Amino acid sequence: MADDTVYARGLRDVAACQTRISFVDPLGALYYAGYDIDRLIGRVCFEEVVHLLLYNKLPNKSELDDVRSTLISEMKLPKQIITCLRQAPKNSHPMENIRTAISQLGEYDSNQNGHSEAANKQRALKLIAKVPTIVATLYRVRNKQDPVSPKKEYGFAENFLYMFRGKLVDVEEKAALDSFMILHADHGLNASTFAARVTASTFSDMYSAVTSAVGTLRGKLHGGASERVMGMLLDVNNLGEVEAYIQGMLFDGKKIMGFGHRIYAAEDPRSRHLRKVGKTLCQRIDRMDLYRKCRRIQDVVHKERKIYPNVDFYAAIVLNALGVPKEFFTPFFASSRIAGWTAHILEQYSESVLIRPTSGYIGAYGTKFIPIEKR
Ligand code: COA
Repeated sequence: MADDTVYARGLRDVAACQTRISFVDPLGALYYAGYDIDRLIGRVCFEEVVHLLLYNKLPNKSELDDVRSTLISEMKLPKQIITCLRQAPKNSHPMENIRTAISQLGEYDSNQNGHSEAANKQRALKLIAKVPTIVATLYRVRNKQDPVSPKKEYGFAENFLYMFRGKLVDVEEKAALDSFMILHADHGLNASTFAARVTASTFSDMYSAVTSAVGTLRGKLHGGASERVMGMLLDVNNLGEVEAYIQGMLFDGKKIMGFGHRIYAAEDPRSRHLRKVGKTLCQRIDRMDLYRKCRRIQDVVHKERKIYPNVDFYAAIVLNALGVPKEFFTPFFASSRIAGWTAHILEQYSESVLIRPTSGYIGAYGTKFIPIEKR
């Protein structure tokens, strides 16, 4: 490495951009455009948070009506995409089909050459509306069921769950999914948002930037963790097995999914809220065994490593209780984070700067060339 190159492994502590969208406080708080999420949860719906992230302010009543009706009317998918989802291999991971479908949405954008700020804001709303529909449609066609259309009189999160399961959503479920979606809507410069901003920084289109983000979210160190949390909860038979299971994993040098965080030194505030939601939902479906296992795992991991659960840990029991199978956990995350991704892409366009870091070269210099016939 050249002497003056500063190498930050994993870009730890490097601020790669400035943002007004959200702030992750290492002391254990999260702010969306200035609002502490503790003040928002239970008081606003996902559509209000969409408005907050895209327009940097909470909507008034008529702005909320506008954003909700735009989102619901944009939930419809081009029929060619529904056909592709029907024809997708059933054994592929849903995130693969979803990544492809989102990329394909770009082909059906009726305003492909419109790159003004207004056109991109409209595009952002379309993507926020359509990603949950892609997820719901994929789930239904995989299960040989017809896609369900949204209802104008339902809220956005309510429509999403209704379109996914095809049955009415009650008040408690609606509130739970609203909280889940709000808590997953944005989170500073996380890996997938960074990927989206890097793509947007070249002035590539919004669909390309979101596709980069979706691929990045899928990994188990990011949004892919919650699916594995559910796997762990099913692997552990009872409370008595928890301690030995966790100690065995740590002894083998494995990470416990749903724990640890790059920024938070304290408990992830999203985890606190999801724990509460998870407890209520587990009581409802008479699966307090899952909630108790989570609490026990949390205690043991903290005792062994002094780390806390992150957003993906309690998200698993929340989605499970809402009837979402574990391979669709990351798609539900993507259906919420699309709000933050598009807000960051818009912000990146307005920054107008290429994100292009350098690398520390650690290879050889002056290697003698040998012609192919002599190698
Ligand atoms: N299980 C066990 N140990 C963990 C851990 C986990 N989930 N997360 C972090 N640690 C330990 C590491 O082994 C490391 O210990 P060491 O210093 O003795 O080597 C230390 O804590 C720092 O971890 P590191 O992986 O360097 O932190 P990071 O900032 O690079 O990674 C995560 C952050 C989120 C990738 C990491 O905590 C992780 O892999 N968690 C599990 C996956 C997950 O839940 N992802 C969702 C994130 S929202």
